[in-house]
Amino acid sequence: MTLQLVPGSAHRALAEAVAGLLGLQLSTCQVDRFPDGELRPRLACLRGADVYVIAPTGPAVNDHVVELLLLLDACRRSDAARVTAVVPYFGYARQDRRSGAGQPVGARVVSDALVTAGAQRLVIVDAHTPALEAMCTVPVEMLTAVPMLVTALASAVSREAVVVAPDLGAVRLAEHYAALLETSVAVVRKTRRSPTDVLAEELTGDVDGRPVIIVDDMISTGATIEAAARVLLDHGATPEIVVAATHGLLIDPAAERFAALPLSALFITDSLAQRETTPALPVQVQSIAPLLADTVGRLHRDQALDDLLIQS
Ligand code: R5P
Repeated sequence: MTLQLVPGSAHRALAEAVAGLLGLQLSTCQVDRFPDGELRPRLACLRGADVYVIAPTGPAVNDHVVELLLLLDACRRSDAARVTAVVPYFGYARQDRRSGAGQPVGARVVSDALVTAGAQRLVIVDAHTPALEAMCTVPVEMLTAVPMLVTALASAVSREAVVVAPDLGAVRLAEHYAALLETSVAVVRKTRRSPTDVLAEELTGDVDGRPVIIVDDMISTGATIEAAARVLLDHGATPEIVVAATHGLLIDPAAERFAALPLSALFITDSLAQRETTPALPVQVQSIAPLLADTVGRLHRDQALDDLLIQS
């Protein structure tokens, strides 16, 4: 069974980096866009191949989700032997439950659609919620970029630094960072008031006179990080804040929010294509291409991934 990598248009550079590490060329994939906005991908023949569609579904999320569905369907219809959707950033993962009447469970809708279109397995990096695995009717490989981010940020933080979860949902993630950095965890309690506004008030843990590392799975508008940072500064944290997150969406006004903070470093990965931020931020981008290449290589050879996965 030949190994084929199909790039989504959301982040071709990442797919190219994965292909380069595996010593492969990307499979031919052209995505036409009709004047009304409809997409129509065209792929090379994939009959009998072990296919990995590499397509994070970041902004514009809806376009990229639909493109991924079409790519998966095209793979299935060209008689690929096995089709894996490599979705480092999984859009809609935050909608893993209803927070009120009349709402959908968006994560379930998208995962069902991916499977119906042709995904026989999903690969996700630091998924927003472990619930995705239970929602999905095909195997889900939950990779983590935390060890890679810890290696990068270890030289930027002192041994006294406290790892901070900016909301209750990030506690497990913060514990993972803290275990690798051999330090303690503090937790901020956050309430979301709207898609772009949050309220953070309570702090559990001691940060007085200590440097802090705020960690999260993703940064969207920066509201969560900003609110947590203000609580930490109010509680005496050293005004040299380090932030680490796997997925840096950095949607406006994230850059402006961060520019107003005493931010000494912002570590993210290249799970999403990055655009220039204005004002410039002290961003350090770590590539997940080696993680994805290792994963694809092992899956192709039917080998275990245990040491690359989120540990529960
Ligand atoms: C939510 O629970 C996520 O883990 C992030 O904290 C959140 O999505 C970040 O969004 P924003 O940057 O807009 O606060």
